Amino acid sequence: MYTCADGHSRNEHSRVGEGVQSRSRQAPMESQERGEDAGAIPNATLVWEGENILWVGREADLPELYKGMERVDANGMMAVPGFVDCHTHLCFGGWRADEFEMRIRGRSYLEIAKAGGGILSTMRATREATEEELFEKAAGLLEEIRALGVTAIECKSGYGLSIEAELKQLRVYKRLRDRERERGGMRIVSTFLGAHTVPPEYKENRRGYLDLVIGEMIPQVAEEGLADFCDIFVEESAFTVEEAREVLLAGKKAGLRPKVHADQLSAGGGAELAAEVGAVSADHLEHISRGGIRAMAEAGVVAVTLPIASLYTQQPFLNARPLADAGVRVAVATDFNPGSAPSFDLPLAMMLACNQSRLTPAEALKGATLYAAQAIGLEQEIGSLEPGKSADFLLLNAKNVNEWMYHYKGSRLEVAYLRGVTQPVTST
Ligand code: NIG
Ligand code: FE
Repeated sequence: MYTCADGHSRNEHSRVGEGVQSRSRQAPMESQERGEDAGAIPNATLVWEGENILWVGREADLPELYKGMERVDANGMMAVPGFVDCHTHLCFGGWRADEFEMRIRGRSYLEIAKAGGGILSTMRATREATEEELFEKAAGLLEEIRALGVTAIECKSGYGLSIEAELKQLRVYKRLRDRERERGGMRIVSTFLGAHTVPPEYKENRRGYLDLVIGEMIPQVAEEGLADFCDIFVEESAFTVEEAREVLLAGKKAGLRPKVHADQLSAGGGAELAAEVGAVSADHLEHISRGGIRAMAEAGVVAVTLPIASLYTQQPFLNARPLADAGVRVAVATDFNPGSAPSFDLPLAMMLACNQSRLTPAEALKGATLYAAQAIGLEQEIGSLEPGKSADFLLLNAKNVNEWMYHYKGSRLEVAYLRGVTQPVTST
């Protein structure tokens, strides 16, 4: 009975060789850096002690050392690494269901944005909300996300667009991160996205806003240790490549690793820029150029595909095939936000990445685990089931990864372990 594992807290196993084994049909180990193979192991056993994975392999090869340990039978379920959502905008005021209906009726995402809706609508609601209100809302959303099997998440600012309101969002993330750390819970990383769009008060003074981002926001964010990454929206309606270069290099100098919202609605050279500045990831990429693919492959930038955003904005999906075939690691994330991607369902994003972005199910699984961990700099700790990494893993009621993605339904997740401890789950 795998449920026996409930009784094991991290401190109960202190001696070497103690721990828990979980026998499962298939445990993708994902040790292969790139490529299609997710390293599935039939009839696998996973051994962990406390927070850490000790051993993964075929049951038949289980070392003598571990044989006397307490066993948890996974009843033939598939074990996969905990999901990593490497691109979200978790903290925001309000919602935008009205725009959802407008888009269905034929108005485009850009039209709505130009009319003062879109990001600016959420900016107004975020500025109006108190830090406490934002914290409560984001914390509630985080519980729902955790219940889907997400064990690590990246969260962006970008709905404040003033020093005060950007810091307010980032402080919400810091509080969530500290709370999770204390509880031995989810890993949370945060990204400063002050350059999401130009706020109305700087409409006639873009330079003034860039100076504020570079001269005041970045230094304060870095000084208070409020973010790990610096992101920017490179797009006709937001920032140019030249402006983005300046912001990302300033962020990098302050210790914030670059990320880019690139080539989402039009080809704009965002992918090339990501390669040039050594970004950890370039995200969206629906309109990436051939040169952009080459540059990202050479520079080792992780691509992040966000198919839920394409779905909701009724835009073309990224064809990830040329990227994957060129050796670019393609991560899959939700882009959860109140406008272009109001769903935080990462398995749904994976299924869309298969059907619309043409990743194989195994690639989509690596995309939402190993490559996603790389896109947020946590690949040493999480993202695959390998000795030394955190015992963050999920037991899914699926025969294998193909069957899971093919027969997509919301009832696959049975048990989630985070740092070796079971979590409350909602079936995915
Ligand atoms: O990633 N692309 C820019 N930013 C978000 C959308 C934000 C919004 O619509 O509120 C995105 O899709
Ligand atoms: Fe985004």
